[in-house]
Amino acid sequence: MPSARRAIALLVLSACFIGQTALVYSDDPGPTQLDATATRGAEVWHEQNCQACHQLYGYGGFLGPDLTNFATRGDEARLGAWLAAGPGAMPAFELPPDDQAALWAWLQAIDSTGVGQAREMSWWEYR
Ligand code: HEC
Repeated sequence: MPSARRAIALLVLSACFIGQTALVYSDDPGPTQLDATATRGAEVWHEQNCQACHQLYGYGGFLGPDLTNFATRGDEARLGAWLAAGPGAMPAFELPPDDQAALWAWLQAIDSTGVGQAREMSWWEYR
């Protein structure tokens, strides 16, 4: 009976579709929630116009380096040193300690979302 076979095929295809959809979306970590400190850090970032010279995820000015993954290669003391000294083409910033801590929380939150600049992948990272 063709209609019964059709119904079974439809059921199997629907089950495959639902199964695959569940698999794909269970992989999604969802949007990153910024805490109050990191949210303040984002404000400081914009108030001080850091994006005029720095990129996040490759977007922003290109006078300074991309800071998406600064938290991986630096720490808060190093951030403070850069802000206080303002070496080379970067101006010095006199920020209240709370704002500097907030910037650090923001840069850590950005860093935790992924890799900002394309790099060659090692063979074990392919999947
Ligand atoms: C006028 C452009 C300019 C602005 C505005 C600016 N920077 Fe920079 N920044 C630079 C440049 C250029 C460098 C690299 C300097 C060097 O290597 O001598 C740099 C370097 C840095 C570094 C070190 C990067 C690393 O990879 O080690 C940090 C951290 C940094 N800036 C943070 C900030 C933050 C936070 C702000 C906003 C409060 C800011 N910068 C605003 C130009 C700027």
